[in-house]
Amino acid sequence: MKVRKKMRACALLLVLTLAAGLMAGCGASSGDNRQIIRIGHNQSTNHPTHIALLAFEEFIESKLGDKYNVEVFPSELLGSQNEMVQLTQTGAINFCVASNSLLETFSENYTLFNLPYLFASSEAYHASMDDESITGPIFESTRQAGFEAVTWLDAGTRNFYTVNTPIETVADLKGLKIRVQQSPTNVEMMDRLGGSATPMGFGEVYTSLQSHIIDGAENNEMALTDNGHGDVCKYYSYDMHQMIPDILIGNNDFLEGLSSEERAIFDEGFALVNQVQREEWVEAVENAKDRAQNEQGVTFLYPDTEPFKEACLPMHEQMLGNYPDLVPIYDAIQAYNQQYPAEES
Ligand code: GCU
Repeated sequence: MKVRKKMRACALLLVLTLAAGLMAGCGASSGDNRQIIRIGHNQSTNHPTHIALLAFEEFIESKLGDKYNVEVFPSELLGSQNEMVQLTQTGAINFCVASNSLLETFSENYTLFNLPYLFASSEAYHASMDDESITGPIFESTRQAGFEAVTWLDAGTRNFYTVNTPIETVADLKGLKIRVQQSPTNVEMMDRLGGSATPMGFGEVYTSLQSHIIDGAENNEMALTDNGHGDVCKYYSYDMHQMIPDILIGNNDFLEGLSSEERAIFDEGFALVNQVQREEWVEAVENAKDRAQNEQGVTFLYPDTEPFKEACLPMHEQMLGNYPDLVPIYDAIQAYNQQYPAEES
């Protein structure tokens, strides 16, 4: 842990000291006039997101390699997601991957995709996120904050997992300290389900579980294996409360400084990130589930999801009341929910 923190501090220092050069469009080493494009994320190098960003690096350098040198920084090397969003806002780095959860504190419109039980099925989720009439107005809404969302990434379905309390009903959550992402929607969801919300950054969850500061967390299956949470948490319960996308965001000034030809190439690159990440995702989740079950000894539980959903549903009306502009987008998502309903369990 200490080594990782040191590495993070060094990388952050590197970014900050190079920031001036980056803004002036200079490369890191003398004689190399290429502009360095820094992309940060918080996943490991095995994760679909990292694999997809390496494909982006290769693609951009194959097309514009005489001008740009793309560097991908995994594992929170450039800071926590919150810190990376701020570095992207100021232009100290060019891109980062942030969970949609965090973005609601930068633009209220992002609240929509954080609602529990918004999407009826993975198919409805994917169809909605692929529909630009749904994502467009939301993705553009952070431009005033200094960044633009350029594509989305799959982060599966979020479910509860705990050190030693199997969650089979809503009542089982009562009084448990559950780590949630740092967003008002997630804190409210946890309150409604009776648990005690403990917001913190992703990188702190493992130690907090291990030292019993929290009783559990909620995430997709990859967190069990890739982040080691399954070494500590032995029950993973498919209550299916959220499908929250990850979003690749880019600094406005950088994106606006591209010529239209370059921007077209970058847009192709963003589409490639989405495609590669989603292809890799399906197998990665299957492998994670298999490893968690067979190597880490995690038990998977399949509770009746209806009572969890009923406890959270008032949040939909409340959000639409607060943000009436989002009603047409919400309705468009409901149309996909009808087209792709939940599978009967
Ligand atoms: C997922 C998601 C990340 C997020 C993390 C979290 O892993 O892909 O973007 O940071 O959950 O719970 O914080």
